[in-house]
Formats: sequence, C-alpha cells, structure tokens
Amino acid sequence: MKNFEFANPVKIIFGKGSIKKIADEISAGSKVLMTYGGGSIKRNGVYDQTVEVLKGFEFYEFGGIEPNPHYETCMKAVKLIKEKGIDFVLAVGGGSVIDATKFIVAAACYGDGDPWEILSEEAAVKKALPFGSILTISATGSEMNAGAVITRAETKDKLAFGSPFTYPKFSVLDPTVTYSLPPKQIGNGVVDAFVHVIEQYLTYSEEDTLMQDFFSESILKVLVLEGPKALEKPTDYDIRANLMWASTWALNGWIACGAAEDWATHMIGHEITAFYGLDHAQTLAIVLPGVMTVLKEQKSKKIARLGKEVFGIEGLHAVERTIQAVEDFFEKMGVKTHLSGYGLGAEVADKVSNRLKERGWILGECNNITPEIVKEILLLRV
Ligand code: NZQ
Ligand code: ZN
Repeated sequence: MKNFEFANPVKIIFGKGSIKKIADEISAGSKVLMTYGGGSIKRNGVYDQTVEVLKGFEFYEFGGIEPNPHYETCMKAVKLIKEKGIDFVLAVGGGSVIDATKFIVAAACYGDGDPWEILSEEAAVKKALPFGSILTISATGSEMNAGAVITRAETKDKLAFGSPFTYPKFSVLDPTVTYSLPPKQIGNGVVDAFVHVIEQYLTYSEEDTLMQDFFSESILKVLVLEGPKALEKPTDYDIRANLMWASTWALNGWIACGAAEDWATHMIGHEITAFYGLDHAQTLAIVLPGVMTVLKEQKSKKIARLGKEVFGIEGLHAVERTIQAVEDFFEKMGVKTHLSGYGLGAEVADKVSNRLKERGWILGECNNITPEIVKEILLLRV
C-alpha cells in the first residue's frame, strides 16, 4: 500500500424528505445563489421543495447549466455572484450542476487573473465561496468529492480540476428525487459509477490494498445487482437508495487510498465528449472494454479477480470472458459500447490520439498509454 493522507469533510444528509434539513446547514443571514440545470427540478418538485426552504434567506437563482457544463456559462454565474454579493451557493442537480458550482465558487474568489487558468494551467485555488448540494442523479460522486470537469465550448477543451476548497459543505441525498430520471440517465449513472471504481481498482495490482479491493468489489456488486432492477422498477426506494450510496462511495476518495489509479478511460472519454458531444458515461462504455483488452497482460490479475468476485467467472479464458461480461453489463444498462452505436467510426481514433499528442499526455497507472496506444484502443471499439 502506498503512503496516503485521507480526509473528507462533506456532511451527507441521506434519505426521503431530507431537503428541508438544509435550512440548518446554511448560516443565518447568508445571501444564497441556487444553481440548477435545464429544468428537470421544476418538473419533479425538487425546485419547489428547495425554494420553500430558502424562503428564510435572501436568495437568487441561476438556471440553465448544461450537461458537461460550459466555462462560458459558469462565468455568467460568477458575474451574478459579484453583482449581488452572494456568500453561499446551493447546487441543485447532477454532476454537471455540482461541478459547475465548484468552478463558480472558485472562480468568484480567483482575484484578477483569468479563472480559466484553474483548468488550463492547474493554477492553485486558494479560496472559494462555501457551497452545498442537493443531488438529483446518482452517478459522478461529485456530491462527496472536490473535483470538477468543465468544458470550454469555444475550444472544445474538457478539463478537470480539484482543490481542498471545493468540497461541498453538505450534500443532500434523497433517493426519491431520482425517480424521475429517464432510463438513459439511470444507465449512464450506473456505468459512470462502475467505471469510477474500475479506474481505482483494476490496475497492475502490485499494491496490496485489501481493504480498498474488498470495498471496491462491494460497490461493483451493488451496481451490477441493483442497476438493472432500477430500470425495471424506477420508483423502488431501496434500489434507488442502494445505487445512490454506492455511486457516492465510488468516488469519494476512500477506495483510492494507497492504491494505484488508472483514469485512462476517463481521459480518453472526456476528449470524445468534447469533440462529439456524447454523454460522459457513453464514452466510458465505449472505451473501457478497449482499455481492458489492450492492457490485458498488465491488468490480468485484477481482471481475473473482478471476474470471480463480481461476475462469478472462473476457469478457461476467464480474463476475456470478464471483459465481455463488463461490455454485456453496460449494454444491459442500455448504454451502447461501440462508436458505431453513436454514428461514429474510426475517425475518432485519429482525432483523440492527435489531441492527446498535442497535449503531451501519456495515460494509465503505469504511465504507458501513449497516443498511439489510445488509437489502438479506439480502433478496437468501432
Ligand atoms: O439539466 P436538467 O434539466 O436538470 O437534466 C439533467 C441532465 O439532462 C438530467 N437530470 C438530472 N437529475 C434528474 C434529471 N432528469 C430527471 N430527473 C432527475 N432527478 O440528467 C441529465 C444529466 O445530468 P448531469 O448532471 O449532466 O449528469 P451526471 O451526474 O452524470 O454528470 C455528468 C458530468 O459530471 C462530470 C462529467 O464529465 C459530466 O460533465 N463528472 C464529474 C466527476 C466528478 N466531479 O467527480 C467525475 C465524473 O467522472 C465525471 O467526469
Ligand atoms: Zn466519470
């Protein structure tokens, strides 16, 4: 196990009817900005519940944050914050709204520089406004981590940042608010959480991280067991609760403690979203089976372990059958696993590989996935 330090300051407020509890979490007298997305919260009652609680505060709204949130949109919210003297932000939505809010609270305190530097140059965030979240989709784990991914529409750059200042103060996880998710988003959420665990678990396995491995397998089992059930019974509370808690734990820092981490699937996926607009999870479902196939030898022990512990696969060709089981699971969740399923083809391989070459990025837990290997991975996924 590698040396590590671990602290996660996010207060989780979990369960049915929990939105009303946020009144106790925001300091009296705060000027609050509520951020949200394209309007799903107005159709499922979450907006009304939130506004009811915020009645005791001076509050403003900033809606229209798009999936794969844009830097350009975030900067409009920063302007509003400065104009109104906002001192607390409440993100109400999925990963996109929470990520956008993390960038907004950091950019609002960035000083005279261009806040894009936080993403493009990994400029240090030294301060941010406090914020909380009401999560509406189980997927990213953004509700309990400090990371965010922001897209600059103008240049098609999708870049990540993270800072100890961008943890939510609290996150409300009420599984009932996810009942209104369309099947596509249920599938996306389960695939995203599954791949988050894989990025931190399915590595070269030289590190002895038994606690984290067992824990990772528990999260994966919950996703494999409950994901398909959520598609069949979208309003079953326990299924939704299990999925919500599993996806939060998939990326709250705990399973990464002392472990090697890959993240190649995500980095390749971000470029596909930036160029072609696919949903985040769709890109992961395409890329992961390719990464597993091309890196099969390096990752063989962990692939075999994943097969045995999560899919019950042992014996002849266990590694290949496990890779197929992962692909089949994504398809079962309604997320297509080949570029052709999204009207794309071999052109993606060149485009993404060239982009990574320009950036000078080499990916993977062994720092050996060159742009040429990325091309090989993507050509397998046509
Ligand atoms: O915008 P609205 O109208 O709210 O609709 C959203 C959106 O269209 C809808 N939705 C959300 N909750 C709903 C709902 N519809 C009905 N009922 C509800 N309860 O779902 C759509 C997708 O929402 P979005 O927030 O984009 O989904 P997700 O949570 O999957 O977030 C994806 C973003 O998070 C980033 C991704 O790159 C992507 O930009 N990620 C963030 C990470 C992090 N911060 O740790 C890690 C991830 O790997 C990921 O990169
Ligand atoms: Zn993800």
